Amino acid sequence: MDTIHIRGGNALFGETRIQGSKNAALPVLAAALLIEDTCVIDNCPRISDVHHMLMLLEGIGCKISRKNRSVTIDAGRVSDDIMSGENVTGMRSSITLLGAMLGRVGEITMAYPGGCVIGVRPIDLHISALRKMGVEIEEKENCFAAKARKLEGTVIRLPFPSVGVTENVILAAVGAKGITVLQNAAREPEIVTLCEFLRKAGAVIEGIGGSVLIIQGGHPLHGVRFQIPADRIVAGTYLMAAVGVGGHVFLKDAPSAQMQSTIKAAEQIGAEIAVSEDGLSVLSEKRKNPIAYLRTEVYPGFPTDMQSLIMPVLTTAEGISVIEETVFEDRLRIVEELKKMGACIEIQKKCQAVIVGAESLHGCEVSARELRGGAGLVIAGCMAQGETLVKNRHFIERGYEDICRDLQNLGVTIYTG
Ligand code: UD1
Repeated sequence: MDTIHIRGGNALFGETRIQGSKNAALPVLAAALLIEDTCVIDNCPRISDVHHMLMLLEGIGCKISRKNRSVTIDAGRVSDDIMSGENVTGMRSSITLLGAMLGRVGEITMAYPGGCVIGVRPIDLHISALRKMGVEIEEKENCFAAKARKLEGTVIRLPFPSVGVTENVILAAVGAKGITVLQNAAREPEIVTLCEFLRKAGAVIEGIGGSVLIIQGGHPLHGVRFQIPADRIVAGTYLMAAVGVGGHVFLKDAPSAQMQSTIKAAEQIGAEIAVSEDGLSVLSEKRKNPIAYLRTEVYPGFPTDMQSLIMPVLTTAEGISVIEETVFEDRLRIVEELKKMGACIEIQKKCQAVIVGAESLHGCEVSARELRGGAGLVIAGCMAQGETLVKNRHFIERGYEDICRDLQNLGVTIYTG
Protein backbone atom coordinates (compact mmCIF):
# COMPACT_ATOMS: atom_id res chain seq x y z
CA MET A 1 0.00 0.00 0.00
CA ASP A 2 2.75 2.43 0.98
CA THR A 3 4.74 1.60 -2.18
CA ILE A 4 5.51 3.13 -5.56
CA HIS A 5 5.99 0.78 -8.55
CA ILE A 6 8.08 1.99 -11.48
CA ARG A 7 8.85 0.29 -14.77
CA GLY A 8 11.98 2.10 -15.82
CA GLY A 9 14.34 2.49 -18.74
CA ASN A 10 12.22 4.52 -21.19
CA ALA A 11 13.06 8.10 -22.17
CA LEU A 12 10.88 10.89 -20.75
CA PHE A 13 8.72 13.05 -23.03
CA GLY A 14 5.95 15.52 -22.28
CA GLU A 15 5.03 18.33 -19.95
CA THR A 16 4.23 18.56 -16.27
CA ARG A 17 3.30 21.51 -14.06
CA ILE A 18 5.37 22.27 -10.98
CA GLN A 19 3.44 22.50 -7.69
CA GLY A 20 3.76 25.27 -5.11
CA SER A 21 6.82 25.25 -2.85
CA LYS A 22 6.71 23.31 0.42
CA ASN A 23 9.52 25.26 2.04
CA ALA A 24 7.89 28.57 1.08
CA ALA A 25 4.35 27.57 2.06
CA LEU A 26 5.17 26.32 5.57
CA PRO A 27 6.70 29.53 6.98
CA VAL A 28 4.06 31.66 5.23
CA LEU A 29 1.32 29.62 6.92
CA ALA A 30 3.10 30.07 10.26
CA ALA A 31 3.39 33.81 9.55
CA ALA A 32 -0.38 34.07 9.08
CA LEU A 33 -0.52 33.63 12.89
CA LEU A 34 0.90 37.14 13.27
CA ILE A 35 -2.09 38.63 11.48
CA GLU A 36 -5.40 39.05 13.31
CA ASP A 37 -7.23 39.27 9.98
CA THR A 38 -8.05 36.68 7.36
CA CYS A 39 -5.37 35.66 4.84
CA VAL A 40 -5.79 33.65 1.66
CA ILE A 41 -2.78 31.65 0.53
CA ASP A 42 -3.00 30.47 -3.09
CA ASN A 43 -1.05 27.69 -4.81
CA CYS A 44 -0.49 26.00 -1.47
CA PRO A 45 0.72 22.46 -2.26
CA ARG A 46 -1.50 19.54 -1.21
CA ILE A 47 1.18 17.67 0.70
CA SER A 48 1.22 16.07 4.13
CA ASP A 49 3.58 18.64 5.69
CA VAL A 50 1.11 21.42 4.81
CA HIS A 51 -1.71 19.30 6.20
CA HIS A 52 0.21 18.91 9.50
CA MET A 53 0.90 22.65 9.69
CA LEU A 54 -2.79 23.44 9.14
CA MET A 55 -3.75 20.95 11.88
CA LEU A 56 -1.34 22.71 14.25
CA LEU A 57 -2.80 26.11 13.42
CA GLU A 58 -6.31 24.77 13.89
CA GLY A 59 -5.26 23.26 17.22
CA ILE A 60 -4.46 26.70 18.59
CA GLY A 61 -7.71 28.27 17.44
CA CYS A 62 -7.22 29.40 13.82
CA LYS A 63 -10.20 28.92 11.53
CA ILE A 64 -9.03 27.23 8.34
CA SER A 65 -10.80 26.40 5.12
CA ARG A 66 -9.38 24.88 1.95
CA LYS A 67 -10.59 25.02 -1.60
CA ASN A 68 -8.31 23.20 -4.02
CA ARG A 69 -4.93 24.83 -3.47
CA SER A 70 -6.23 27.97 -1.76
CA VAL A 71 -6.12 28.06 2.02
CA THR A 72 -8.03 30.67 4.04
CA ILE A 73 -6.71 31.30 7.55
CA ASP A 74 -8.51 33.39 10.12
CA ALA A 75 -6.10 33.84 13.04
CA GLY A 76 -8.38 36.30 14.87
CA ARG A 77 -8.27 34.24 18.06
CA VAL A 78 -5.20 32.27 19.05
CA SER A 79 -4.63 30.31 22.26
CA ASP A 80 -1.28 29.43 23.81
CA ASP A 81 -2.12 25.73 24.29
CA ILE A 82 0.76 23.28 24.41
CA MET A 83 1.75 22.07 20.95
CA SER A 84 2.64 18.43 20.93
CA GLY A 85 1.80 15.19 19.11
CA GLU A 86 2.73 13.87 15.72
CA ASN A 87 2.09 17.15 13.89
CA VAL A 88 4.98 18.71 15.83
CA THR A 89 7.34 15.77 16.26
CA GLY A 90 6.90 14.52 12.69
CA MET A 91 7.82 17.79 11.01
CA ARG A 92 10.94 19.90 11.46
CA SER A 93 9.31 23.07 10.18
CA SER A 94 6.85 23.13 13.10
CA ILE A 95 9.74 25.05 14.72
CA THR A 96 8.72 28.19 12.75
CA LEU A 97 5.66 28.35 15.01
CA LEU A 98 8.08 29.28 17.79
CA GLY A 99 8.92 32.67 16.28
CA ALA A 100 5.35 33.24 15.07
CA MET A 101 3.80 32.50 18.49
CA LEU A 102 6.35 34.66 20.27
CA GLY A 103 5.57 37.48 17.85
CA ARG A 104 1.83 37.05 18.33
CA VAL A 105 1.18 36.03 21.95
CA GLY A 106 4.64 36.19 23.52
CA GLU A 107 4.81 32.57 24.61
CA ILE A 108 4.68 28.96 23.49
CA THR A 109 5.21 25.50 24.91
CA MET A 110 5.96 22.86 22.32
CA ALA A 111 7.42 19.40 21.86
CA TYR A 112 10.81 19.25 20.13
CA PRO A 113 10.24 19.30 16.36
CA GLY A 114 11.07 16.24 14.24
CA GLY A 115 11.30 15.82 10.49
CA CYS A 116 13.48 13.84 8.14
CA VAL A 117 16.22 11.68 9.59
CA ILE A 118 19.04 13.54 7.88
CA GLY A 119 21.26 14.49 10.74
CA VAL A 120 21.15 15.68 14.31
CA ARG A 121 19.19 18.85 13.48
CA PRO A 122 19.36 20.52 16.90
CA ILE A 123 17.54 23.78 17.73
CA ASP A 124 20.40 25.44 19.62
CA LEU A 125 20.75 28.29 17.09
CA HIS A 126 17.01 29.04 17.28
CA ILE A 127 17.23 29.24 21.04
CA SER A 128 20.34 31.41 21.22
CA ALA A 129 19.02 33.89 18.60
CA LEU A 130 15.65 34.29 20.33
CA ARG A 131 17.25 34.63 23.77
CA LYS A 132 19.00 37.75 22.44
CA MET A 133 15.54 39.24 21.82
CA GLY A 134 14.55 38.78 25.45
CA VAL A 135 12.98 35.34 25.21
CA GLU A 136 13.33 33.08 28.22
CA ILE A 137 13.53 29.46 27.22
CA GLU A 138 13.22 26.53 29.54
CA GLU A 139 14.31 23.22 28.04
CA LYS A 140 12.60 20.14 29.48
CA GLU A 141 12.94 16.49 28.57
CA ASN A 142 10.20 16.24 25.92
CA CYS A 143 9.26 19.85 25.33
CA PHE A 144 10.43 23.40 25.82
CA ALA A 145 8.69 26.54 27.00
CA ALA A 146 9.52 29.96 25.56
CA LYS A 147 8.23 33.19 27.00
CA ALA A 148 8.97 36.82 26.28
CA ARG A 149 7.93 39.34 28.90
CA LYS A 150 9.22 41.98 26.52
CA LEU A 151 10.15 40.94 23.00
CA GLU A 152 12.70 43.47 21.79
CA GLY A 153 14.57 44.10 18.58
CA THR A 154 18.34 43.82 18.76
CA VAL A 155 21.39 42.97 16.65
CA ILE A 156 21.77 39.23 16.02
CA ARG A 157 24.61 37.64 14.10
CA LEU A 158 24.02 34.02 13.14
CA PRO A 159 27.08 31.73 13.36
CA PHE A 160 25.66 29.86 10.33
CA PRO A 161 23.01 31.14 7.86
CA SER A 162 20.34 28.67 8.96
CA VAL A 163 17.10 28.82 7.01
CA GLY A 164 14.85 27.93 9.95
CA VAL A 165 16.57 30.30 12.38
CA THR A 166 16.37 33.18 9.89
CA GLU A 167 12.64 32.52 9.51
CA ASN A 168 12.07 32.36 13.26
CA VAL A 169 13.95 35.59 13.92
CA ILE A 170 12.01 37.39 11.17
CA LEU A 171 8.68 36.18 12.59
CA ALA A 172 9.55 37.16 16.15
CA ALA A 173 11.06 40.48 15.03
CA VAL A 174 7.91 41.54 13.16
CA GLY A 175 6.00 41.23 16.44
CA ALA A 176 8.77 42.73 18.60
CA LYS A 177 9.28 46.26 19.80
CA GLY A 178 11.99 48.17 17.94
CA ILE A 179 14.43 47.28 15.20
CA THR A 180 16.09 43.89 14.69
CA VAL A 181 19.22 43.67 12.57
CA LEU A 182 19.88 40.09 11.50
CA GLN A 183 23.38 39.51 10.18
CA ASN A 184 24.53 36.43 8.24
CA ALA A 185 20.90 35.65 7.45
CA ALA A 186 20.04 32.80 5.08
CA ARG A 187 19.35 34.01 1.53
CA GLU A 188 17.28 31.08 0.26
CA PRO A 189 14.39 32.09 -2.04
CA GLU A 190 11.93 30.85 0.60
CA ILE A 191 13.18 33.59 2.97
CA VAL A 192 12.47 36.14 0.26
CA THR A 193 8.94 34.75 -0.12
CA LEU A 194 8.31 34.96 3.63
CA CYS A 195 9.51 38.58 3.71
CA GLU A 196 7.38 39.48 0.68
CA PHE A 197 4.31 37.99 2.35
CA LEU A 198 4.95 39.92 5.57
CA ARG A 199 5.70 43.12 3.67
CA LYS A 200 2.45 42.79 1.73
CA ALA A 201 0.68 42.46 5.11
CA GLY A 202 2.25 45.71 6.38
CA ALA A 203 5.57 44.66 7.95
CA VAL A 204 8.64 46.81 7.36
CA ILE A 205 11.64 44.72 6.27
CA GLU A 206 14.73 45.96 4.46
CA GLY A 207 17.55 44.04 2.81
CA ILE A 208 15.30 41.28 1.43
CA GLY A 209 17.38 38.75 -0.52
CA GLY A 210 20.62 39.83 1.17
CA SER A 211 22.50 38.53 4.19
CA VAL A 212 21.59 41.50 6.43
CA LEU A 213 17.91 41.96 7.19
CA ILE A 214 16.56 44.99 9.03
CA ILE A 215 13.13 44.47 10.51
CA GLN A 216 11.10 47.25 12.15
CA GLY A 217 8.81 45.52 14.60
CA GLY A 218 5.37 46.51 15.81
CA HIS A 219 3.77 47.76 12.60
CA PRO A 220 0.08 46.78 12.37
CA LEU A 221 -0.53 43.88 9.98
CA HIS A 222 -3.59 43.32 7.82
CA GLY A 223 -5.00 40.34 5.92
CA VAL A 224 -3.67 39.64 2.43
CA ARG A 225 -4.06 37.30 -0.51
CA PHE A 226 -0.74 35.75 -1.46
CA GLN A 227 0.52 33.29 -4.10
CA ILE A 228 3.09 30.63 -3.15
CA PRO A 229 5.76 30.34 -5.88
CA ALA A 230 6.61 27.07 -7.62
CA ASP A 231 8.84 24.55 -5.86
CA ARG A 232 12.46 24.71 -7.06
CA ILE A 233 13.29 21.29 -5.56
CA VAL A 234 10.30 19.53 -7.13
CA ALA A 235 11.25 21.14 -10.46
CA GLY A 236 14.83 19.95 -9.86
CA THR A 237 13.52 16.43 -9.21
CA TYR A 238 11.85 16.12 -12.61
CA LEU A 239 14.76 17.88 -14.29
CA MET A 240 17.10 15.22 -12.85
CA ALA A 241 14.72 12.41 -13.86
CA ALA A 242 14.90 13.68 -17.45
CA VAL A 243 18.70 13.99 -17.31
CA GLY A 244 19.00 10.53 -15.76
CA VAL A 245 16.88 8.72 -18.32
CA GLY A 246 17.20 11.02 -21.34
CA GLY A 247 14.38 12.59 -23.31
CA HIS A 248 12.74 15.97 -23.84
CA VAL A 249 10.46 17.47 -21.20
CA PHE A 250 8.91 20.82 -20.34
CA LEU A 251 8.56 21.77 -16.68
CA LYS A 252 5.79 24.34 -16.62
CA ASP A 253 6.19 27.14 -14.05
CA ALA A 254 9.64 25.87 -12.95
CA PRO A 255 11.32 28.80 -11.12
CA SER A 256 14.49 28.76 -13.23
CA ALA A 257 15.95 31.95 -11.69
CA GLN A 258 16.17 30.10 -8.35
CA MET A 259 17.64 26.97 -9.97
CA GLN A 260 20.89 28.27 -11.43
CA SER A 261 23.23 25.89 -9.60
CA THR A 262 20.98 22.91 -10.42
CA ILE A 263 20.77 23.94 -14.07
CA LYS A 264 24.56 24.33 -14.22
CA ALA A 265 25.07 20.83 -12.81
CA ALA A 266 22.58 19.36 -15.31
CA GLU A 267 24.44 21.10 -18.14
CA GLN A 268 27.75 19.67 -16.90
CA ILE A 269 26.20 16.23 -17.13
CA GLY A 270 25.30 17.01 -20.74
CA ALA A 271 21.69 18.24 -20.76
CA GLU A 272 20.54 21.16 -22.88
CA ILE A 273 18.32 23.46 -20.85
CA ALA A 274 16.22 26.25 -22.33
CA VAL A 275 14.61 28.72 -19.98
CA SER A 276 11.45 30.61 -20.94
CA GLU A 277 9.02 32.80 -19.08
CA ASP A 278 6.61 29.98 -18.35
CA GLY A 279 9.06 27.24 -17.47
CA LEU A 280 12.07 25.24 -18.43
CA SER A 281 12.73 22.65 -21.11
CA VAL A 282 15.25 19.84 -20.75
CA LEU A 283 16.74 17.95 -23.68
CA SER A 284 18.98 15.11 -22.68
CA GLU A 285 20.63 12.05 -24.13
CA LYS A 286 21.12 8.79 -22.29
CA ARG A 287 24.90 9.27 -22.27
CA LYS A 288 26.06 11.31 -19.26
CA ASN A 289 29.25 13.04 -18.17
CA PRO A 290 30.41 12.66 -14.58
CA ILE A 291 30.92 15.68 -12.29
CA ALA A 292 34.43 15.58 -10.88
CA TYR A 293 33.47 17.40 -7.68
CA LEU A 294 30.17 18.84 -6.48
CA ARG A 295 29.54 20.18 -3.00
CA THR A 296 26.31 21.22 -1.37
CA GLU A 297 26.19 24.77 -0.07
CA VAL A 298 23.77 27.36 1.20
CA TYR A 299 21.95 29.39 -1.47
CA PRO A 300 22.95 30.26 -4.16
CA GLY A 301 25.22 27.19 -4.02
CA PHE A 302 24.09 23.69 -4.96
CA PRO A 303 21.17 22.84 -2.60
CA THR A 304 21.51 20.04 -0.08
CA ASP A 305 17.95 19.03 -0.99
CA MET A 306 19.14 18.34 -4.56
CA GLN A 307 22.02 16.12 -3.45
CA SER A 308 20.09 12.86 -3.29
CA LEU A 309 18.31 13.80 -6.53
CA ILE A 310 21.47 14.21 -8.60
CA MET A 311 23.24 11.19 -7.09
CA PRO A 312 21.18 8.54 -8.94
CA VAL A 313 21.83 10.38 -12.22
CA LEU A 314 25.60 10.18 -11.68
CA THR A 315 25.48 6.43 -10.95
CA THR A 316 25.40 5.75 -14.70
CA ALA A 317 27.63 8.62 -15.89
CA GLU A 318 30.72 7.71 -17.91
CA GLY A 319 33.35 8.17 -15.20
CA ILE A 320 33.89 9.04 -11.55
CA SER A 321 31.93 11.74 -9.69
CA VAL A 322 32.42 13.04 -6.15
CA ILE A 323 29.66 14.66 -4.09
CA GLU A 324 30.40 16.30 -0.75
CA GLU A 325 27.54 17.08 1.63
CA THR A 326 28.41 20.12 3.77
CA VAL A 327 25.05 21.27 5.18
CA PHE A 328 23.73 18.15 6.97
CA GLU A 329 26.12 15.67 8.50
CA ASP A 330 24.11 12.53 7.73
CA ARG A 331 22.39 12.95 4.41
CA LEU A 332 23.81 10.09 2.35
CA ARG A 333 21.33 7.42 3.42
CA ILE A 334 20.20 6.83 -0.14
CA VAL A 335 23.59 5.27 -0.97
CA GLU A 336 22.86 1.82 0.49
CA GLU A 337 19.59 1.62 -1.45
CA LEU A 338 21.19 2.73 -4.73
CA LYS A 339 23.82 0.03 -4.29
CA LYS A 340 21.04 -2.59 -4.22
CA MET A 341 20.14 -1.34 -7.71
CA GLY A 342 23.69 -1.86 -9.00
CA ALA A 343 25.25 1.54 -8.23
CA CYS A 344 28.92 1.63 -7.33
CA ILE A 345 29.31 4.23 -4.55
CA GLU A 346 31.75 4.51 -1.69
CA ILE A 347 31.28 6.86 1.26
CA GLN A 348 34.42 8.57 2.50
CA LYS A 349 34.75 10.67 5.66
CA LYS A 350 30.99 10.19 6.33
CA CYS A 351 30.01 13.12 4.09
CA GLN A 352 31.63 12.40 0.72
CA ALA A 353 30.29 9.98 -1.89
CA VAL A 354 32.57 8.70 -4.64
CA ILE A 355 30.42 7.40 -7.49
CA VAL A 356 31.89 5.18 -10.18
CA GLY A 357 29.56 5.22 -13.17
CA ALA A 358 28.01 1.81 -13.90
CA GLU A 359 26.62 0.53 -17.21
CA SER A 360 23.04 0.62 -15.88
CA LEU A 361 20.85 0.22 -12.78
CA HIS A 362 18.48 -2.69 -12.33
CA GLY A 363 15.07 -2.56 -10.67
CA CYS A 364 14.55 -4.09 -7.21
CA GLU A 365 12.83 -3.35 -3.89
CA VAL A 366 14.22 -0.32 -2.05
CA SER A 367 13.05 1.74 0.93
CA ALA A 368 12.71 5.50 1.28
CA ARG A 369 14.12 6.70 4.61
CA GLU A 370 13.36 10.40 4.16
CA LEU A 371 11.71 12.83 1.74
CA ARG A 372 14.31 13.79 -0.87
CA GLY A 373 16.15 10.47 -0.63
CA GLY A 374 12.82 8.79 -1.39
CA ALA A 375 12.34 10.97 -4.48
CA GLY A 376 15.93 10.11 -5.47
CA LEU A 377 14.99 6.42 -5.42
CA VAL A 378 12.05 7.19 -7.71
CA ILE A 379 14.50 8.82 -10.15
CA ALA A 380 16.70 5.71 -9.91
CA GLY A 381 13.60 3.60 -10.61
CA CYS A 382 12.90 5.64 -13.78
CA MET A 383 16.49 4.98 -14.91
CA ALA A 384 16.63 1.27 -14.02
CA GLN A 385 15.93 -1.70 -16.26
CA GLY A 386 12.92 -3.69 -15.04
CA GLU A 387 10.61 -2.98 -12.11
CA THR A 388 11.51 -0.98 -8.98
CA LEU A 389 9.43 -0.90 -5.81
CA VAL A 390 10.02 2.12 -3.59
CA LYS A 391 8.64 1.43 -0.12
CA ASN A 392 7.63 4.08 2.47
CA ARG A 393 5.89 6.34 -0.01
CA HIS A 394 4.59 8.45 2.91
CA PHE A 395 8.02 10.12 3.23
CA ILE A 396 7.75 11.32 -0.38
CA GLU A 397 4.20 12.58 0.19
CA ARG A 398 5.56 15.03 2.77
CA GLY A 399 6.78 17.17 -0.11
CA TYR A 400 5.30 15.94 -3.43
CA GLU A 401 1.60 16.35 -4.24
CA ASP A 402 1.60 13.36 -6.56
CA ILE A 403 4.96 12.24 -7.89
CA CYS A 404 3.29 9.43 -9.84
CA ARG A 405 0.88 11.78 -11.64
CA ASP A 406 3.70 14.18 -12.52
CA LEU A 407 5.98 11.44 -13.88
CA GLN A 408 3.09 9.76 -15.71
CA ASN A 409 2.69 13.12 -17.51
CA LEU A 410 6.28 12.61 -18.68
CA GLY A 411 5.54 9.10 -19.96
CA VAL A 412 6.82 7.03 -17.03
CA THR A 413 5.00 3.82 -16.10
CA ILE A 414 4.62 4.52 -12.39
CA TYR A 415 1.80 3.87 -9.95
CA THR A 416 1.09 3.43 -6.26
CA GLY A 417 0.10 0.14 -4.69
C1 UD1 B 1 15.52 24.05 5.67
C2 UD1 B 1 14.65 23.30 4.70
C3 UD1 B 1 15.34 22.02 4.25
C4 UD1 B 1 16.72 22.35 3.70
C5 UD1 B 1 17.52 23.19 4.67
C6 UD1 B 1 18.84 23.69 4.10
C7 UD1 B 1 12.37 23.85 5.33
C8 UD1 B 1 11.09 23.37 5.89
N1 UD1 B 1 13.38 22.97 5.33
O1 UD1 B 1 15.69 23.21 6.81
O2 UD1 B 1 14.55 21.41 3.23
O3 UD1 B 1 17.41 21.14 3.45
O4 UD1 B 1 16.77 24.36 5.06
O5 UD1 B 1 18.62 24.40 2.93
O6 UD1 B 1 12.49 24.96 4.86
N2 UD1 B 1 21.38 23.64 12.69
C9 UD1 B 1 21.92 23.60 13.97
N3 UD1 B 1 21.23 24.21 14.98
C10 UD1 B 1 20.05 24.85 14.78
C11 UD1 B 1 19.51 24.90 13.46
C12 UD1 B 1 20.20 24.28 12.44
O7 UD1 B 1 22.98 23.03 14.18
O8 UD1 B 1 19.49 25.39 15.75
C13 UD1 B 1 22.10 22.95 11.59
C14 UD1 B 1 21.28 21.77 11.02
O9 UD1 B 1 21.42 20.62 11.83
C15 UD1 B 1 21.91 21.61 9.67
C16 UD1 B 1 22.24 23.06 9.27
O10 UD1 B 1 22.26 23.81 10.48
O11 UD1 B 1 23.10 20.87 9.74
C17 UD1 B 1 21.25 23.66 8.30
O12 UD1 B 1 19.98 23.72 8.89
P1 UD1 B 1 18.90 24.83 8.52
O13 UD1 B 1 19.42 25.79 7.50
O14 UD1 B 1 18.36 25.38 9.79
O15 UD1 B 1 17.79 23.93 7.82
P2 UD1 B 1 16.27 23.80 8.17
O16 UD1 B 1 15.68 25.16 8.40
O17 UD1 B 1 16.08 22.74 9.21
